[in-house]
Amino acid sequence: MCGIVGYIGPKQAQQVLREGLQRLEYRGYDSAGVVTIGDNATLLRAKGKVAELEQKIEEHPTTDGIGIGHTRWATHGEPSEPNAHPHHVGDIYLVHNGIIENYKDLKQQLEAYEFASETDTEVLAALIDSLYKRADVKLENAVAQALKLVEGTYGISVVSQKEPHKIVVARKGSPLIVGVGDEETVIASDAAALIAHTNDAIYLKDGEIAVCTAGNVEVMNLDEQPISAVVEKIETNLEAIEKQGYDHFLIKEIMEQPDTLRSTLSGRVVKEQNLLRLGGLNMSEEELRAVKHIFVVACGTASYAGQLASYYIEQFCDDVTIRNEVASELRYRSFNVPSNSIAIFVSQSGETADTLACLNEMKARGVRCLGIVNAVGSTIAREVDGGVYVHAGPEISVASTKAFTSQVSALLLVGLVMAQAKGIEPKVIEQYINEFDALPGEIQAVLDRHDEIRQVAERYKDYDNAIFMGRDTLFPTAMEGALKLKETSYIHTEGQAAGELKHGSIALVDDRFFEVAFIDEHRLFEKTMSNVIEVNARGGHVMVITNSTRDIDAETVVRIESQLQLLTPLVLNVVSQLFAYYIAVARGNDVDQPRNLAKSVTVE
Ligand code: M6R
Repeated sequence: MCGIVGYIGPKQAQQVLREGLQRLEYRGYDSAGVVTIGDNATLLRAKGKVAELEQKIEEHPTTDGIGIGHTRWATHGEPSEPNAHPHHVGDIYLVHNGIIENYKDLKQQLEAYEFASETDTEVLAALIDSLYKRADVKLENAVAQALKLVEGTYGISVVSQKEPHKIVVARKGSPLIVGVGDEETVIASDAAALIAHTNDAIYLKDGEIAVCTAGNVEVMNLDEQPISAVVEKIETNLEAIEKQGYDHFLIKEIMEQPDTLRSTLSGRVVKEQNLLRLGGLNMSEEELRAVKHIFVVACGTASYAGQLASYYIEQFCDDVTIRNEVASELRYRSFNVPSNSIAIFVSQSGETADTLACLNEMKARGVRCLGIVNAVGSTIAREVDGGVYVHAGPEISVASTKAFTSQVSALLLVGLVMAQAKGIEPKVIEQYINEFDALPGEIQAVLDRHDEIRQVAERYKDYDNAIFMGRDTLFPTAMEGALKLKETSYIHTEGQAAGELKHGSIALVDDRFFEVAFIDEHRLFEKTMSNVIEVNARGGHVMVITNSTRDIDAETVVRIESQLQLLTPLVLNVVSQLFAYYIAVARGNDVDQPRNLAKSVTVE
């Protein structure tokens, strides 16, 4: 949830770190810091966003060519300057993502040290320092020995003035990428901070340590045995991680959806042959045919994508049952895995700690695991047996939008490829192919009406409570719409099955609430309308988002024109994405980096 960056080479490290931290700020933004090593070490830390740190950098510039930096999302200890990274203990400067679970025990053993922060990271710095003080111990030896004593997760980057020409990095459960350029080495927890410098990178694996000097990297394991590392190409470019004239990443990413969706579908939907194909599943036709149970495991928006896709898959694969599981729950509960099960893990970042833990559990049980992942090269993408990259491109705004649309589509492709193997009627495939064909255009038509949706948002921006509701495929759509509004606007919002309202929530209907109802002309129109009427009857403020042309009695009706019969939720969802965006802007919120959140949730 935090960001790590490091640099060693001919450039001014402070500037490289500053730019890197700006690019990583979406991963955590309550404090930030850098240290550079020259004749002296210059450690600068600030509470708040990277902009606060930048001011300090301007006041204390250095020309040093080596340094490490960090942007933090607080776990142990409040956001404050003493709790910000890098932590300095003895000869060690350390930045850390993850959680050291046994830090209290370790702290007790490190009696000689006085601690200035409440963090687990400072304890790890002290532990490394205590080992580094021994004769003939190099920085990498001390790091390896310390990490053997640690329980928990980490991505770390360490420097010392005693060895001012190297950065030692290591990972377990928290990503670290080492970019290898000409005479320079750049370290980051996310490719976004690397690609301005190089596209050649080593993705460290759990239990690996890298000793980085300018333009050179040596990798070893915790037993200090050398490992040969593979240098891979990062496929992203700088343009993809910039706002390109938009006010916020969120609106850029919402607007990109017709294109990102086409990327998801490209090469996988073969219209001429009425065929769907996926190269990366690594499952034979026979194995696909044998599947009877699917666990879909994810968190947040990705879990709503899973729930939405499941409605369709269980419809066209009538011998398959699907269990949707929120990863943070599944990982600690008892559950049974029937024979002929597979598990699908859905994640934009591919680094979500809870999702990853469930993946490890399923692998330990011998279940075939597939990934629906956006971030290429991420941990989940590497750990699964097969899967589908959704190819939505980098998603920087904390609120997930384009990833959702692509995740649902990619899950549907997996389901349909399975159904193909099971002998689904070609006309069903044809119908989905036609809908996929029309979907980007229909989404574009909604995006073109952004001004109208901005005006609707203006009408509802001052409420403090909202309920989103829908039935069938529009129930997960309602939950996703509610999450989007909640996290960007801070309006208290719940997503509900429309039929559930009268089992409790209708008691909330009053002048301080508004209700958003998703209604599909082709699915349960009258049923959902009756729920709208019930709310109207109690003086509720209802906004309907629909593809219907029928008369609808509601305070506000946003109608979209749609030829789709099946994939309507993905179009209606774009209306609620824009609605959430414009309300957040109208309320003056930090749209891309909402309070208390971070993009990639790498702690549980
Ligand atoms: O990277 P992931 O898709 O695994 O992330 C899952 C959730 O943390 C994420 O969808 C989160 O709920 C977003 N803030 C929603 O907009």
